[in-house]
Amino acid sequence: MPYQVNFKGEKVVPVEEGQTILQASLAAGIPHYHACGGKGQCTTCRVLVLQGQEQLTPPTSYERVIKNVKKFPDNVRLACQSNIKGEGVEVQRLIRDETDRYIFINGSDDSTTRVMGERRKMALFFIDIRNFTPFIEASLPFDVIHIMRRIFAIFRNAITQYDGVIIETAGDGLYAVFGLNSKIKQAAESAVLAGLKILADLRIFNNTYMRPYFNHTFEVGIGVHVGKVIVGNVGIGLSNNLTVMGYPVNIAARLQAATRELNNSFVISDLAYRLLRNQPYSLGCGHINLKGVSTAYEVQLIGKPYETELPTIAPDAT
Ligand code: FES
Repeated sequence: MPYQVNFKGEKVVPVEEGQTILQASLAAGIPHYHACGGKGQCTTCRVLVLQGQEQLTPPTSYERVIKNVKKFPDNVRLACQSNIKGEGVEVQRLIRDETDRYIFINGSDDSTTRVMGERRKMALFFIDIRNFTPFIEASLPFDVIHIMRRIFAIFRNAITQYDGVIIETAGDGLYAVFGLNSKIKQAAESAVLAGLKILADLRIFNNTYMRPYFNHTFEVGIGVHVGKVIVGNVGIGLSNNLTVMGYPVNIAARLQAATRELNNSFVISDLAYRLLRNQPYSLGCGHINLKGVSTAYEVQLIGKPYETELPTIAPDAT
């Protein structure tokens, strides 16, 4: 006999015989996250049981393992591992917000396809997540993937908002360019605005999602440089097949790597900084010797000192 479950603040959904709470909510059109596909191997489908806990089937062996590891209280259940035995059950999804909804419903679509081969001045943008390893070590694989997608959605939204294009992703970082459709001054401005937006959005994400749901926060390192590069479509790699190569790209990557020793989340070459119409506040500048680069580069520190890491090299004060 079918029962009903009240998803607080969303809708009352029918649960057919043998259906889990997750299957019922998905069938009713609720964007209920289920990163592992309902296999009891993540925590993204978890719900808080507000009423009728006794009407749920006992936790499966998968759920018991996760509840033990994560120390979830009895009234937190994995929706994909819970069936209904009677009426009066009310639950609340615990991981939900508008971005989850967007990812769940729309997926991603980076279908930029361009054919070109030219030399042009562009802004090069590298970003890396700083403290991902401790999170990976303490988390379930599907949770890791889920959070990666969330963070990369933050990166992608900011980059595309300012007309940038992601060239490649590697591990917990990515490389993007600005200036395919604009002059270099605008490109530098856009790269910096995208970086500052990522820092601001990540702060919100940490406070409203990571800390409450996963008891962890993330920091990133961003490096931006400008210069003449070769832009071409080599027909391999990502869906857009776009490649941007050249010496300035290496420098931008090194600037990103230097964020650690400079203890600042956003390092930009002075060359790029001087192109900006609206220069953001810089915590200081210095000359930095970049590995593999013979000339010392002057850089500006326009991010924040890290909260989770100590500086190893102090920048020159100005
Ligand atoms: S969807 Fe992964 S545990 Fe339920």
